[in-house]
Amino acid sequence: MAWKTLDDLDLAGKCVLTRVDINVPVENGRVTDTTRIDRIRPTIADILAGGGTPVLLAHFGRPKGQVVPEMSLGLIKDAVAARLDANIIFGEDCIGAPAKTAVGSAQPGEVVLLENTRFHAEETQNDAKFAASLAALGEVYVNDAFSAAHRAHASTEAIARLLPSAAGRLMQAELEALEAALGNPIRPVVAVVGGAKVSTKLDLLANLIRKVDTLVIGGGMANTFLAAKGLEIGTSLAEREMTDKASEIIKTAGEVACDIVLPNDIVVAREFAEGADSEVLLAEECPVDAMILDAGPKTVEVVKSSFDAAKTVIWNGPLGAFEISPFDAATNAAARHAAELSAKGHLTSVAGGGDTVAALNKAGVADDFTYVSTAGGAFLEWMEGKTLPGVAALETT
Ligand code: 3PG
Ligand code: MG
Repeated sequence: MAWKTLDDLDLAGKCVLTRVDINVPVENGRVTDTTRIDRIRPTIADILAGGGTPVLLAHFGRPKGQVVPEMSLGLIKDAVAARLDANIIFGEDCIGAPAKTAVGSAQPGEVVLLENTRFHAEETQNDAKFAASLAALGEVYVNDAFSAAHRAHASTEAIARLLPSAAGRLMQAELEALEAALGNPIRPVVAVVGGAKVSTKLDLLANLIRKVDTLVIGGGMANTFLAAKGLEIGTSLAEREMTDKASEIIKTAGEVACDIVLPNDIVVAREFAEGADSEVLLAEECPVDAMILDAGPKTVEVVKSSFDAAKTVIWNGPLGAFEISPFDAATNAAARHAAELSAKGHLTSVAGGGDTVAALNKAGVADDFTYVSTAGGAFLEWMEGKTLPGVAALETT
């Protein structure tokens, strides 16, 4: 896998079409988490330093080919300007006259932001003509949107084939981290997979057991595996119709010598509420009227020792119901241990996907992980071993 980077492009005096993912959460008109904007700063800075004008292409929400005012990037342009510390010229459309005027009026040092690409149905159709209209606005293309790279859209895929193209700094960092975690990792490798549902992560589990040495299964998913082993799981969240699939995964893991770690002790409660009365039991002891909400302390010790023995940890999903205490204890303790080992240089730790970043932030350890991905769905698809169209379009070999 090889791709060009910003260092391979001549940027001086060029309009640099730059696909970014600034699909940030907004509440009451305010951006509540600027991480995705912050993470494109190195790319924007390098384009400006190289004498180019960054012309940002981005989606915002899922407007399904319609102009939806609540999904206008104009709503977040001030937040983008503030976080990038640059003057933003906003184009009211991403193609045609409004886009050309915005691009044409940018002064050196300014950044152009064009309206939501998904206001055009052709974007998600990966339409060649639409991609050509985007490409006509610049001379080179940079993709810095790893978190949208699982979409074969005009601004992530078709356009890369029309212009000299390269990965931006964030795309580059994401790809390097993922390569270090699963592509060509230093062994032993431990994967932690949590979250609610086995059904959404079947492909991921099937791929991981062939690639990692130890697979830790946590969260609601673990309950389905415990049920598959014939254990009582009371009123726990689980997908009982998936127990056959879970058994298959356990069987295949045995054949390919991947150790599966499931909770051997559990934290149970009668209600799912902050500070609910809870007790620690052995995995075999779940009462019929109780639900499993976290892994117990013995399990945490097993997970921690697997990290001690590992050189690489890849993490997706919490080990318990981390949103409310005390059911965040296993996630917090295990994440803290991975962070400490990483900070000491003993471990390469890479985390991403959905709730994972929220869980690590809540545990206060995200900064000490070797790498925390900005991606949700793209991270999962990559963990499933799928080719990401936005990455494939950048590949040079
Ligand atoms: C995300 O928020 O996960 C990315 O921006 C991709 O968005 P999408 O799932 O709407 O394609
Ligand atoms: Mg998504």
